[in-house]
Formats: sequence, C-alpha cells, structure tokens
Amino acid sequence: MKSDPIPMPSPSEATRNAVTLAPMTLNDLDAVMAIEQSAYSHPWSRGNFRNSINPLFDAQCLWLDGELLGYFLAMRGFEEMHLLNITVAPARQGQGWGHMMLDALSLWSRHEGAHWLWLEVRQSNQRALQVYQRYGFRQISIRKDYYPAGRQQREHAVVMSLKL
Ligand SMILES: CC(C)(COP(=O)(O)OP(=O)(O)OC[C@H]1O[C@@H](n2cnc3c(N)ncnc32)[C@H](O)[C@@H]1OP(=O)(O)O)[C@@H](O)C(=O)NCCC(=O)NCCS
Repeated sequence: MKSDPIPMPSPSEATRNAVTLAPMTLNDLDAVMAIEQSAYSHPWSRGNFRNSINPLFDAQCLWLDGELLGYFLAMRGFEEMHLLNITVAPARQGQGWGHMMLDALSLWSRHEGAHWLWLEVRQSNQRALQVYQRYGFRQISIRKDYYPAGRQQREHAVVMSLKL
C-alpha cells in the first residue's frame, strides 16, 4: 500500500524564527554599519569591514530571521584567534547574544586549532570588560594610548586572553 508523503515545511516555514550565524557578506554592510554607528563613539568604517571580508578573517553575522542581532570579526594567527570586533545591536544587548557569539567563536577557534583567544578593549568600556571577565578572559597587559578618544586624546587598551 502506498503511504502518503510526510508533509515537509517549505524553506520559508523551516527558517521561521530561526537564529542563524552566517558569514558576513558585502550585502550585510548596510545593516552592520547601522549597528556599528549606534554602538560606538569611534565606529569602524565601511572600508574596515569591507577589507575584513576575506579568508584571513572569520566575520560572522548573527540573525534572528531578517533582523541583524550582532556580528563578530576575528583574525587567525598561529594557534590563536584575535577578536577584533564583537557588537550586539543596542536594543538587543543584555539578552545573552554576546555570550552566544563568544561561544560560537570559541568553538570555531578550537576547531581551527587555536589555543588562545585574544582581544583588546577600551579601558573605559566597563560593560564589555565585565562580560569578558565573567566569560573567563584574563587581563594580560595595558596598551597605552591605543585608541583615539576625542580631539587629540587617546585611551588605553586592556589586552585580554582566554585559554580555549
Ligand atoms: C559587549 C557586548 C558585545 C556584550 O554583548 P551582550 O549581548 O550585551 O552580552 P550578554 O547579554 O551575552 O551578556 C551581558 C550580560 O547580560 C546577562 N544576560 C544574559 N542573558 C540575559 C537575559 N536573557 N536577560 C538579561 N540579561 C542577560 C549576562 O549574564 C551578562 O551578564 P554578566 O556579564 O553579568 O554575566 C555588547 O554589550 C556590545 O555590543 N556593546 C557595545 C559594543 C562593544 O563595546 N563591544 C565590545 C568592544 S571590545
């Protein structure tokens, strides 16, 4: 006896309410720049992102359906990964998305053979410092006058690392 086929969701139904991590593409840059400019006093330029969409970098966007929640960008080194940018849309911060992206980056970095994650963060960025510390990053050193900070001023960077 011929049985009825099992109904399968159409692709649009199957991806409804889906949280997806996908490689950043040039098509994403309008949405990325909108978040970047709203999240930082000194945002990256579109050119910075454009240059980072290449095989030396791991640039990922986190989507909830068609809404860009955030993104991260990391550079591969020898047995280490350097996190250059991680940003969650201001309206979505404090909901666990930053942790989720750190989890994804840690897993991927281990898969790529990295033993350490490195990052720099502005000394004044207490929120990010707290997120990283609670995630397990340890402060390694201070880079003096690393970041621009207003007219002719500079700000120190805190260098942090995480053993994977
Ligand atoms: C730093 C940043 C990436 C962290 O991302 P985030 O999504 O806000 O972080 P999370 O929500 O994952 O974690 C933040 C806190 O919210 C808590 N949290 C997690 N899920 C939560 C939920 N459902 N509701 C409320 N709080 C929650 C976490 O426990 C965490 O608290 P803790 O640090 O005391 O443990 C984000 O705040 C950001 O983009 N900031 C602006 C850009 C920036 O400074 N980037 C870093 C540059 S180095």
